[in-house]
Amino acid sequence: MLARVLTSLRTELGPADPALLALDPADALALALAADADALRLKRWLKRRLSGEPIAHITGRFTFRGLTFAVDKRAYVTDPEVTHLVSAVIARATDLAHVAKRAPLLADLGVGCGSLALAIRHALPVARIVGLDLDPDALAVAARNAAAHRLPMRLIESDLFDSWPSSIRAPDLIYGDPPWGDASTLYDETGRPACHYHAMPPVSAFPLGGRTGVHRQILLAVARRGWQSEIWLNCGVLPHAALAALAQSAGATDFEIISPIPALSLLRCRMIGPSALVPKTHSRNDAQSLKMILPQPDSRREFEP
Ligand SMILES: C[S@@+](CC[C@H](N)C(=O)[O-])C[C@H]1O[C@@H](n2cnc3c(N)ncnc32)[C@H](O)[C@@H]1O
Repeated sequence: MLARVLTSLRTELGPADPALLALDPADALALALAADADALRLKRWLKRRLSGEPIAHITGRFTFRGLTFAVDKRAYVTDPEVTHLVSAVIARATDLAHVAKRAPLLADLGVGCGSLALAIRHALPVARIVGLDLDPDALAVAARNAAAHRLPMRLIESDLFDSWPSSIRAPDLIYGDPPWGDASTLYDETGRPACHYHAMPPVSAFPLGGRTGVHRQILLAVARRGWQSEIWLNCGVLPHAALAALAQSAGATDFEIISPIPALSLLRCRMIGPSALVPKTHSRNDAQSLKMILPQPDSRREFEP
């Protein structure tokens, strides 16, 4: 069926169509398998792929750590390498549960479609997880995934920890894959080209305040609250020196940069005590850009899976 559909596309678009020539055979095969022998659907999907749409947004699902998650253009498609952050969090949360002899409370900052939190709960059912995201559309996708996997988790619409309920104690561990990077560090023409990131919700892929701007906001927000939580953040390919500078300038008194594989860094740190550093530092311009790219919620909401 794939060969037949590709021949028909070549006739329609012209055999020298640059997008058609650049089509990755593995992507075509993945779409053909997911199209379930429906040739018309496959042709529609291949056209969407040729225009740069991520495969997971086309098929409506992706697999992460052996679990299948629903996704659509409302939410970021989890990067497979974030599995290393998930492994680290599971290991640390297991240790914390042993030491404290109680269920560890985890906060997933930027929970997106919920894949990281649900993979962690699946591996470590004792963990309690609160998923936070400032994008209500992404939270709706997370709620759907939590329900599908029957793994309850509390989901809260929140800019950083602003809507953290006062009835919940400080998390033992905070983790996340906040947006990071810029055009010089983010795009990888062989793997994820620029169009991949441009297909994601803007607030999920492009950090405000520079390539580590959101990471910095997270550290400062934790310090302002006086939380002693252990923090684990994915930092992708950002250079170690930039991450060390970030941790130092934000006032982390205890930090470590770990590379579980080449070209991937995780920042582990704590913010000890209330910080004397600057208050929340979204600049006026940042706030305006946020208003432009985000639907403005009328009230903060919680999403029950
Ligand atoms: C790179 S995506 C990762 C999503 C998800 N953790 C995953 O790996 O699939 C970053 C997420 O952070 C959220 N985000 C960005 N800035 C935020 C903020 N200030 N407060 C809460 N969430 C934020 C975005 O809406 C997005 O869902």
